[in-house]
Amino acid sequence: MKFYITTPVYYVNDRPHVGHAYTTVAADVLARWQKQKGRDVFFEVGTDEHGAKISQAAQKAGQTPPDFGDEKAQAFKDTWKILNIDYSGFIRTTDKAHETAVQKALEILYQKGLIYKGEYEGLYCVGCEQYKNPDDLVDGKCPDHQKEPEKMKEESYFFRLSAFAQILEEKISSGEFKIEPAARKNEALSFIRSGLKDVSISRKNVAWGIPLPFDKEYTTYVWVDAFLNYLTVLGWNPASEESENFKNFWPPDLQLMAKDILRVHATIWPGLLLGLGLRLPQKFFVHGFFTIAGQKMSKTLGNVIWPEDLVQKFGADASRYLLLSSTPFGQDGDISWEKMIQKYNADLANGLGNLLSRVFNLIENNFDGKIKAEKSDFGVSDFMENLQLFEALQIIKAKVDWANKYIDETKIWELVKNDKSKAEKILTELLGAIWSIGASLAPFMPETSQKIMESARAAKIRKGEILFPKIEI
Ligand code: MSP
Repeated sequence: MKFYITTPVYYVNDRPHVGHAYTTVAADVLARWQKQKGRDVFFEVGTDEHGAKISQAAQKAGQTPPDFGDEKAQAFKDTWKILNIDYSGFIRTTDKAHETAVQKALEILYQKGLIYKGEYEGLYCVGCEQYKNPDDLVDGKCPDHQKEPEKMKEESYFFRLSAFAQILEEKISSGEFKIEPAARKNEALSFIRSGLKDVSISRKNVAWGIPLPFDKEYTTYVWVDAFLNYLTVLGWNPASEESENFKNFWPPDLQLMAKDILRVHATIWPGLLLGLGLRLPQKFFVHGFFTIAGQKMSKTLGNVIWPEDLVQKFGADASRYLLLSSTPFGQDGDISWEKMIQKYNADLANGLGNLLSRVFNLIENNFDGKIKAEKSDFGVSDFMENLQLFEALQIIKAKVDWANKYIDETKIWELVKNDKSKAEKILTELLGAIWSIGASLAPFMPETSQKIMESARAAKIRKGEILFPKIEI
């Protein structure tokens, strides 16, 4: 009964933004959910630190790549801490153990004849750290980075990815290796069916990387380096005895990512695993991309939302709630400060927060805090199992709305004066609802959930603190 869940290792060219936070919060919620069910969970996060993109960013900042990486990796750790991300392992691709394991893996693939030397000519986008096909470009530019890719021609080592095209296609189409949502599975399949070429796995002119073990003039292609993190975070190294974590947790049960990196993940990554004779992941879940008030998030536009600003404004739990309730998981979405403040006020300040203070107040003032209730479940489990995080939160919100409406309709503030036993019955029901709301929120809003459950179970119920003060726009 184990569960291994991963996020992408994020590039350290900058500190984390709300897009990184979204994937990581979603993974944290799912990890907590699995733990709650009693599974033994390993939750991987980390940073991708080698390659041209990072060394250029370091240079621009006037720092060496290692110092620059240290600073940014720390920024990721700090952000995950304030967002209450309870990861099991934080891997940096500059970790020594990772680097030696990558070299060992490459040596094995080389000895198996799965790596060979050739020449590469193509258009390279440093932003993507990927070669581009001419038909990937819009007006000659990479659509994701608005830059013309560089022409590159160099001797290179290749991985025989083409050898695995058929088996990959079979495993994905049969569902042995699941890719969700279905549209993303189809996208991966049609990409594979259009013909998988061997991939260049080395760079001659990129000094900032892991040297190829069999030819030190080259460094390892940053994506190959990065993919192996999903193994090395478990202490995997093909030269040594299997680590406990590898034995217990391999293969991943769920790998999260956004649609931008599906293609590489659905091809090179499983290709490497097949080459190494390792089991493939059980499932990818691919979510969409956020825009900010209708625009692509970018530093140049100055519209980047930084997670620490979110936490400062809303607190960790409300930030987590706002991220996951903004968009159905798997679809593209749009967020903005304005929409988030509105939703915070509606769902949390006026919704949940108001419900708690109304019910707790009535119980404290009219029953000396002494009402006992039972928790009742209201079916978020199916949604959680299906990774429908947005829908799970909608159900919870509907329960809050129901309870607030129940208070209004029964005019309970009058009943406590005129019909105490009826009031007691209704408050018992409401307290039970609050308890179950608190329990359902546990993976999403861990601190809030704990506070709600403690209050609802207390021998003497008190009005307590205001959890979600209203925020002015
Ligand atoms: N380093 C590679 C991944 C290697 S994994 C072996 C990389 N890094 S990244 O920093 O660019 O992160 C991309 C991921 O960040 C996306 O797949 C997604 O998880 C998250 N997001 C980045 N921007 C996002 C949005 N605007 N919206 C939603 N998620 C976003 O690619």
